[in-house]
Amino acid sequence: MKKICCLTILCCITSTVFCQPNNISIIPEPVVLSQKSGTYLLPKNITISAANNAEVKYAADYLGSKLSKATGYTVTITERATTASVELLLNKSADNSLGKEGYKLSVTGKNIIINANQPAGLFYGVQTLLQLLPKEIESKTVAKNIKWSMPCVEITDYPRFGWRGLMLDVSRHFFTKEEVKNFIDEMSRYKFNLFHWHLVDDEGWRIEIKRLPKLTGVGAWNVKRVGHFGDFKDIRDDEPRNNGGFYTQEDIKEVVQYAKERFVNVLPEIDVPGHSMAAIASYPELSCTEGADKYKVISGEKFIEWPEKGHFYGLLDNTLCPANEKVYPFLDMVFTELSQLFPFEYIHVGGDECAQNFWEKSDAIKALMQKENLKTMLEVQGYFENKLERIINSKGKKMIGWDEILESGVSSSAAIMSWRGTKGGIEASNKGHEVVMSPSTYVYLDYMQSDEIMEPKIYASLRLNKTYSYEPVSEGINEKLVKGIQGNLWTEQIYNYRQVQYMAWPRAFAVSEIAWSPSAKKNWTSFVGKVEDHFKRFDAGEIKYAPSMYDPEFKVVKNDKAELTVSLSTELDGLDIYYSFDNSYPDLFYPKYTGPVTVPVDATLMRVITYRDKQPLGRINNMQVAELKKRAEKK
Ligand code: ACM
Repeated sequence: MKKICCLTILCCITSTVFCQPNNISIIPEPVVLSQKSGTYLLPKNITISAANNAEVKYAADYLGSKLSKATGYTVTITERATTASVELLLNKSADNSLGKEGYKLSVTGKNIIINANQPAGLFYGVQTLLQLLPKEIESKTVAKNIKWSMPCVEITDYPRFGWRGLMLDVSRHFFTKEEVKNFIDEMSRYKFNLFHWHLVDDEGWRIEIKRLPKLTGVGAWNVKRVGHFGDFKDIRDDEPRNNGGFYTQEDIKEVVQYAKERFVNVLPEIDVPGHSMAAIASYPELSCTEGADKYKVISGEKFIEWPEKGHFYGLLDNTLCPANEKVYPFLDMVFTELSQLFPFEYIHVGGDECAQNFWEKSDAIKALMQKENLKTMLEVQGYFENKLERIINSKGKKMIGWDEILESGVSSSAAIMSWRGTKGGIEASNKGHEVVMSPSTYVYLDYMQSDEIMEPKIYASLRLNKTYSYEPVSEGINEKLVKGIQGNLWTEQIYNYRQVQYMAWPRAFAVSEIAWSPSAKKNWTSFVGKVEDHFKRFDAGEIKYAPSMYDPEFKVVKNDKAELTVSLSTELDGLDIYYSFDNSYPDLFYPKYTGPVTVPVDATLMRVITYRDKQPLGRINNMQVAELKKRAEKK
């Protein structure tokens, strides 16, 4: 919904200093939005009235701090209910249409009122309100010469799903407490309410467990390498193991509190029995494999084979051994401390990609199978998962795991996170499990956002339009058991926080709109316009994002004369594509793409750029002809 307010046009004609477009560009799209005539201008002394309630105060403080930081105006938070610039009101009797997280926002020429049943709704009303203000509201310092006005509106809004998540992997690469808080703050602006914290994996154990000090003394540290993760050369013994880090229990409490103030639940994940090299490097006795005492925390060197055909297998054994009785007291200690740190009702136990080749050879596993009458390795994992669920439940928590745990026959009280497409979620819901949909095919935020010539290389691509097209209530799913959706950000190829932002945005905008807005409100064209407006907000807030939606898509075939013919397309409508084959940088005076083009005989490089309204967008895409040839020959 992009509308230019008449008043804004007038303002732009009469004043160049105060020219502020008042586009209404809210992500996620509200349920009902009605624009009224007029604008509300923030006074230089802003008062926010909020009930004396700790959680309402979170919303009021959040708003107050954003307003004062960017505007430089004085902000007073008061308990008085009338004549304030902004009133945050809890409904005396619940408005059933709003539920726990909905709100009503009214902006008139006189003031702003947000009503909600619960404080979370007030917080989401605040987020919408901030998106109605000029983009400079995102500035970290006082923005000068801004007319701090917003269009008059009446909005009624509430979420489609109660679980609106993003996952961040802090094991493959470590992100500091401050970076994690930033991530939570950024997601909360788009009404996400669940932060899934992937705390342990083969490359690092990131959470202090006081009774198991080696987990962080040893398990949090590897050797620093950069390049293409997964292909690193073998690590030498003399290289320093000083790369990584972990969160103390005090850090964890601080992050959980920070998230609470933004109405975000924190779901911790301890990924077992696979992905456990950091735990085994710390406590090798948890393995059943001889030689595990030599294992080290991985940096990104190859230790699992992923053949194109057939099942993956470990070159080293990164699994906790289900037949090893030391494993269960270990898990009990971990989950005892964990459950005291995280108030959220669920704990994620991983369960994905567990290699079985070492189990197959293990005498201890063979004995366990005989004793427990287990027929397959999946049943062995099922034995482990069932014992694990009893541990989790004994701490007063519910268990959730990746969809592999369904195959191993876990009980229907465990929730399933469907990542290998949607099949696992559909099947799980029909077996009575609650499900969270996070299919890699639509919402894996670590996948490349355009052609691999433009992005850090990973094994798959996922463009913004594909993410936006996702509908979580797939055919055949038991809709009642779909708790919501989640985007996952694995960090194998992500070495710094700026790249975390780049990978998350704009695809997380799409995830947010799918999770919050009614499906009937989804509209790709209007969404793209909003994304572009939010790019400007991110520029003002110094948040990185990917411009990949402007990159063209390349398709190539060989014609009957063995010439390469390239077809180009774009995700967005209305873009012009210009190209060169002579190594120079194309602009709008170069050949414009109108249909498939034949690669000239001696050309070595095709450069491509997209324009709109005579303005360049995004970046130059440099496609080697040798790469085109390779792709054409692959078919
Ligand atoms: C996963 O992506 N291995 C859950």
